[in-house]
Amino acid sequence: MARILIADPDPATQQDLLEHLRRRGHDPVLAEDGAAALRTLTDEDVDLVLAELQLPGMDGLQLLREAHRLHADQAFILLAAFGTVEDAVAAMREGADDFLSKPLSAEEVSLAIERALDKARLLRENQDLRAALDDRLRLFNLVGGDAKMTALFKTARAVAGSRSTVLITGESGTGKTLLARAIHSLSPRGKGPFVEVNCGALPESLLESELFGHVRGAFTGAVKDRAGKFEAAHGGTIFLDEIGTSSPGFQVKLLRVLQDRVLERVGDSRPIPVDVRVILATNSDLAEAVQAGTFRADLYYRIHVVNLHVPPLRERRSDVPVLAERFLQRFAHENQKTLRGIAPDALRILEQAEWPGNVRQLENVMERAVVLAEGDVITPADLPEELTRRPGAHGTEPGLPHDAHLLPLRAALEVAEKALLQRALEHHGGNRLATAESLGINRSTLFHKMRRYGLS
Ligand SMILES: Nc1ncnc2c1ncn2[C@@H]1O[C@H](COP(=O)(O)OP(=O)(O)OP(=O)(O)O)[C@@H](O)[C@H]1O
Ligand SMILES: [Mg+2]
Repeated sequence: MARILIADPDPATQQDLLEHLRRRGHDPVLAEDGAAALRTLTDEDVDLVLAELQLPGMDGLQLLREAHRLHADQAFILLAAFGTVEDAVAAMREGADDFLSKPLSAEEVSLAIERALDKARLLRENQDLRAALDDRLRLFNLVGGDAKMTALFKTARAVAGSRSTVLITGESGTGKTLLARAIHSLSPRGKGPFVEVNCGALPESLLESELFGHVRGAFTGAVKDRAGKFEAAHGGTIFLDEIGTSSPGFQVKLLRVLQDRVLERVGDSRPIPVDVRVILATNSDLAEAVQAGTFRADLYYRIHVVNLHVPPLRERRSDVPVLAERFLQRFAHENQKTLRGIAPDALRILEQAEWPGNVRQLENVMERAVVLAEGDVITPADLPEELTRRPGAHGTEPGLPHDAHLLPLRAALEVAEKALLQRALEHHGGNRLATAESLGINRSTLFHKMRRYGLS
């Protein structure tokens, strides 16, 4: 139901429109002239104005201008008993949603009203999203209003003040790197350097000299002394990404630096003290890697001081509209396109997608959509088809690994159990009580299993 102001001096039109609107479940209100219409617009919330071009006191175009001065997005349709093409053009130029010539046909009126109300609703929704981007719901460039994210931001703010080592875990594309940068920027060393190293990308020997530096002659090709990234990060933060796949030899050295805050360049035994805050990230399960013997337990405990877990996007779907809107604005600006927002049906697709590539995937989808969009809103046609395909339909459902039949039965069952728990938790929006009930286990059993599988 919409509140619709009818500003038309003609009794027959008033009567027709009143009846028509009431029959469609709207809430119409009458104004005899421009001044009365303006009073109503000032005092009340009106969803839509239907105004005759020739109003006593103030003509329809003037009323349109005044209405937009009060509410920039006021939905407004002009009606004209004796309208010309020039009037219609002027009306559209002034920002009217539509211009209808009398005699009015019921069908034409209905269509114009629905269209104007739809557009107004879309504008309002997009504004709400923009308003939601206030400071509580962001941490530097990270946005998120989901409860899990606001809790994460709060912890991140708290640890930013200290020098403690931080371990960030989460799937690929969830925002780990962005979070590491935010913590650095918010910390007292925020003005110092932020040095990023991808530990998974380099072989052990190179990684060592990259991080700790080397002296001349330390190895073939070491033609002069070189400081490493740790020294470069002095007074600031070093961010060690993909720590889960680093080699055992490297892990020993890293442990030493973390413990003693002292390093040695490759080929040199002189200790160099460093004042560096260390943030690490991984998208693999370190506890599992410790069990499997590929990650040192002592290093694990050393870095597991503060663990910030960034949840996958599918576990915080309420953030999808906010993120999508933000990316829309950014890419629209970059591509110099005017886009008002995302159509409701397109937004629904985004909200329901699985997002295996998390925020990075959403970002890419929005960039593509902005480029493809032909109208002034993003529609389902601008979104890739794979978003609407359910997982499982194309065999990527997390479940048994393809070599499950070669694993010890217990291990295979555990993999399956973890996948089932994950799915049940998602299905119940993370509600543990409901999840436990639907699985037919009690809550403490569920908690125990979640902790064991790193799901809590
Ligand atoms: N909460 C967020 N708000 C805004 N942008 C985000 C958010 N999370 C992630 N992004 C954006 O999504 C992309 C991926 O984020 P980021 O690189 O931090 O993920 P990651 O977890 O470090 O991924 P990987 O594991 O592949 O290193 C980046 O372009 C980042 O700007
Ligand atoms: Mg990263």
